[in-house]
Amino acid sequence: MRPEIGVPSDLADDPVRPCATGSLPGWIRAITLCAGFAIGNTARAAEFGFETLRNLVDTRGINSVEGLIEALPQDLRTHYALMFTSRSLQGANLANPRAILFGSDAEFIVTFNGDPAVRGYSAVETMQFDPRKNEFQFREIQFPVAKGASVVISEPNSARCLACHGQPARPIWDMPPSWPGAYGERYGAGLSPKETAGIREFLALQPVHARYRNLLGAAAFADRETYVSSAHAMYNGVRTISPNAQLSVLLTNLNYRMIMSEIASRPAFDAHRYALLAAAEGSCGPLPDYYPASVRAAIAVDLRAFKQSSAATERLQAAAIAARLAGAAGGYQQRIAVGGLDKLRFVVEHSLDLATRQWTLALEANTYDLSAPEGAHTLAQMLFEQVARTDEALRGLRADRSFSSDDRYCEHLRRHSVRALEAWYLANPLQLTPTDDGWHADRSRDAASAPLSTAARPELLDRCAGCHTGVVAPYIPFADPDALGKQLGHGNYRHGRLLDEILYRLAPEAGATSMPLGIAISEAQRHGLDEYFLGLARRADTQGDN
Ligand code: HEC
Ligand code: HEC
Repeated sequence: MRPEIGVPSDLADDPVRPCATGSLPGWIRAITLCAGFAIGNTARAAEFGFETLRNLVDTRGINSVEGLIEALPQDLRTHYALMFTSRSLQGANLANPRAILFGSDAEFIVTFNGDPAVRGYSAVETMQFDPRKNEFQFREIQFPVAKGASVVISEPNSARCLACHGQPARPIWDMPPSWPGAYGERYGAGLSPKETAGIREFLALQPVHARYRNLLGAAAFADRETYVSSAHAMYNGVRTISPNAQLSVLLTNLNYRMIMSEIASRPAFDAHRYALLAAAEGSCGPLPDYYPASVRAAIAVDLRAFKQSSAATERLQAAAIAARLAGAAGGYQQRIAVGGLDKLRFVVEHSLDLATRQWTLALEANTYDLSAPEGAHTLAQMLFEQVARTDEALRGLRADRSFSSDDRYCEHLRRHSVRALEAWYLANPLQLTPTDDGWHADRSRDAASAPLSTAARPELLDRCAGCHTGVVAPYIPFADPDALGKQLGHGNYRHGRLLDEILYRLAPEAGATSMPLGIAISEAQRHGLDEYFLGLARRADTQGDN
């Protein structure tokens, strides 16, 4: 049974406020939804969920994507993002984007596309957040292509969806400052020339397109004010939040609820709750101080190794994102910030024995990128709410913080943490290195000592080359770095360019289609391969081959 999750109270039942101004207290900066996306007095999306939709299909005999979109409530048809390229099962192009309808709370999402020539045209995809279980459910609704056939609704979270959405299933939505492929892909900037031309094409066909004509307020996608606050709006204290950023905030909050629920349901949670909170706060001094003296030195050693391996991951992540963006938006340069989550992830993986590589909303798991636009909760806030439920004194202490690591708040956390963990370590003396799916001391040592230089040629490459000769597997010049480098930035694969496809195939999310086919490789070997391909792509890029 999953425990109930304490959601910061002001946001608990009203996660999105229309056009709030700066008058709200403290960190509770509400999400404004002004930018041409006026909220009508319509039913909130939460009232319309998957079961309502299934009912509609049954009772009205809806048998086409068009019919379904038309029947959706106004709230869903008013709040949406548009993808002009998509790495999902639904293809897209500039004139026929994939529409992601998320309503005002993103607890129920519906997607569709509009060009019969692209993949996924006859399907509608849905995502439902279950607020009691704090879980996401993904389903696909296949509409009949031939007359007389019937509508097929998939089971929740079928293997087909989990291949990318992971286990436990979570949404995929890139992090600010960019959502590559979604109109308004650069956070805080207007449309690029390519996007402007694309949105014009789209708006020309939208009013008469059988599916898109059901979208409300689409014209706003051409307005700069949809993406960037005008001086006038700023003056009035209203900040624009683009549709992409809105979706980011909403999905981040739901994702954090799932994460919190997972954390809080671990047997070791109670004993570690103060240490977790201190780690999440990030301003409460060295983490080992939150453990009993007897294990402090051991924790410090493990924490150092953990940080080393995550530094390597961080570099990899930065490279992957930069590579993916290189082609998009005219070489738009972005600042890549990875939140200081090391300590929190360490306690979660090390002591709660829970993997964190699925925490990110990015398609590439293992990147630990949890950046979110202003307005999203933080894990520290969520944890605070959870811990404060049984320790009311915390509220006052946190409100009066001086933000030094020995203020009374941190002092309180330290004292309670050491006490709780003394009891825990007495009962569980060998909890220092968990060995299942979570973090392993071994693995991190591997990763830390793995050659990360881009020049190193991984041995495994011969295995790739051995299969990819054009007979067993499609020809890819794995044995010829120059030829490969030139190809990496090109192609139209399921997950983007050849580089994207390779990185995807190397990641655990690729499941049964992961590479090298049939060969189990270690985390360190995988990193080595990732780095090698990224290095080749970068080199080809700087040589102007791309
Ligand atoms: C090949 C990878 C892949 C597979 C498989 C996949 N998705 Fe997705 N999905 C994505 C990506 C990437 C996004 C982000 C938006 C985009 O690029 O279109 C996404 C977004 C979504 C969204 C919008 C909410 C969100 O997560 O941002 C829904 C709903 C969704 N997918 C449903 C499904 C369903 C249902 C299935 C199974 C039938 C499925 N997906 C299978 C890659 C995939
Ligand atoms: C045992 C044979 C085998 C080995 C080893 C192997 N592959 Fe593959 N690979 C395949 C087959 C078969 C396919 C086609 C089926 C599929 O797409 O899943 C494929 C598909 C791919 C694709 C998608 C190509 C496309 O046209 O969509 C990529 C990318 C890929 N492999 C990369 C790699 C990399 C990188 C390695 C080495 C780390 C590797 N493969 C090792 C057999 C292999």
